[in-house]
Amino acid sequence: MALALARKYRPSTFSDLIGQESISKTLSLALESQKLSHAYLFSGLRGSGKTSTARIFAKALLCEKGPTATPCQSCQQCQMANEGRHIDIIEMDAASNRGIEDIKELIEHTKYKPSIGRFKIFIIDEVHMLTVQAFNALLKTLEEPPEFVKFILATTDPLKLPATILSRTQHFRFKKLPEKTISKHLAFILSKEGVEYSDAALDIIARNAQGSMRDAITLLDQAIVYANGKIDTTSVTSMLGVVDPEVLDKLIDAILNKKRDAVIAFTQEYASYEAEMIIDELTLFLRDKLLNKDPKLTTLTVERFFKILAEGKRLLLIGSSGDFVLLLTLLKMVEAMEIHTIDAMIQKLQNELTLNQSQTATQTLEQKAATTESKAPTNQEKKIEKKVESSLLPEDKFQSLIEKLYDRNYDLGKLFEENISFISYENKTLTWESTVEGEAKRMLIKHWPLIKLFVEEIFGLGTKIENISKKKLTKESTVKQQNIQESQTAEENAQSSSCIMPQSNSEASKDKDPNSLLEEPMVKEFLRHLDPKRVVIKQKS
Ligand SMILES: Nc1ncnc2c1ncn2[C@@H]1O[C@H](COP(=O)(O)OP(=O)(O)OP(=O)(O)O)[C@@H](O)[C@H]1O
Ligand SMILES: [Mg+2]
Ligand SMILES: [Zn+2]
Repeated sequence: MALALARKYRPSTFSDLIGQESISKTLSLALESQKLSHAYLFSGLRGSGKTSTARIFAKALLCEKGPTATPCQSCQQCQMANEGRHIDIIEMDAASNRGIEDIKELIEHTKYKPSIGRFKIFIIDEVHMLTVQAFNALLKTLEEPPEFVKFILATTDPLKLPATILSRTQHFRFKKLPEKTISKHLAFILSKEGVEYSDAALDIIARNAQGSMRDAITLLDQAIVYANGKIDTTSVTSMLGVVDPEVLDKLIDAILNKKRDAVIAFTQEYASYEAEMIIDELTLFLRDKLLNKDPKLTTLTVERFFKILAEGKRLLLIGSSGDFVLLLTLLKMVEAMEIHTIDAMIQKLQNELTLNQSQTATQTLEQKAATTESKAPTNQEKKIEKKVESSLLPEDKFQSLIEKLYDRNYDLGKLFEENISFISYENKTLTWESTVEGEAKRMLIKHWPLIKLFVEEIFGLGTKIENISKKKLTKESTVKQQNIQESQTAEENAQSSSCIMPQSNSEASKDKDPNSLLEEPMVKEFLRHLDPKRVVIKQKS
């Protein structure tokens, strides 16, 4: 019988070992610098190179030119090691020798010096299979073996090892091999073997090996026989009973384009295939698409598909009919395409709201004070309001401020509208003219923090307010700003700079020292909030 490819291509040097570079490097350095431990643990996926590495390491320790990272391969020690008949390399399979008696025998063996080699090397495979008693019996020897003894333990399941064993060994974790690395190695083997192949076919084999080089090489062995000539996707997919990636590509296209008929036709054509296999294949296929950033599939779509496929798998596990589950799963994937992405929905909603809001903003400005009905805005509306407001003229913003105040407190809005008029907005300072007096003034002061907050919301953070107090004018003169200017006397003009008028109806104020007015609690409060540049106190004639 021809030697199986996996055995024929077993790595015999560290440089032959594929995909485990960091392990080869560390072990090579240890060999070259003679910094050797007495017990090593190799863990990792089946067929990833643990036993091969253990054998290379053993040979490297025993080579007559060594210990060396590059055993000569020609000395007697190397040759015996390569042929698997070195008397000082003792391989034990813990899966079939798991009891305490087996370990006792092994321990007995460690007491005798090596026959021909430098070391006596014990390779214990599948070490996690040992019984608890066997582990306990091994502990002491593992910790302090005779100096000529080296242990190499290998396992696919390190979590099953007692902590006592883990802490007594140098642990090396073998990696799952990437698909590309596997495909490349398969191509290398086939070129050595003189067999024709297509890269896509090797990719399918590599994907099915799920990270195990041995599994991949074993499948390759089968494929050579099955293909009877060139190894291509047709022979490989039919050998493995998997769906051709091109077919999957078309299926995904049909799903993305919501072609239900094509999807149903697929399930009929592939009715003889295992539903679970197709679901697994689709999952792997989508994963590849995601990794390769296929523009047709957004992360969100892939995520949605994965969930549906996982649900399909779950239904199969509880024994639902395969054909039905497959059909249901694929149709659910079609359905998923109907759902707009949440982002798209939010965007659409936002656009609509912005449009509505800007329409109402224009209306409001036109109708001015007429629209006083209050309604608490939602957060969304507030955001949009802000957006709209930021593009408004300062005068319009001031109008928005009044609207906002109305909205919060009708009286305050009214007070503002009737008594306060916009002058300018420059250098982050909002200047307005105010004719508030008496009760209204008290109200203004009370709500000052709110006013300040709204001003900052509308005009921007850090906006300063300059309040120019002004005596209330006669009815006629308040009609239009232009008229005000015309009708104002020189005295009134002087008053219109920053000033606080004493309470006009208070007789007592007339006799008071004008400066004591500054000590009045209300005046103090007002000054604190307004922070005016200049205060003029005038006796009312
Ligand atoms: N890293 C690798 N580089 C090259 N070939 C590898 C590698 N890993 C595994 N192989 C191939 O797979 C075969 C089996 O490898 P090996 O016995 O070292 O795996 P293992 O990790 O000990 O597996 P198990 O856990 O099943 O014992 C080798 O003969 C070789 O052909
Ligand atoms: Mg092994
Ligand atoms: Zn040698």
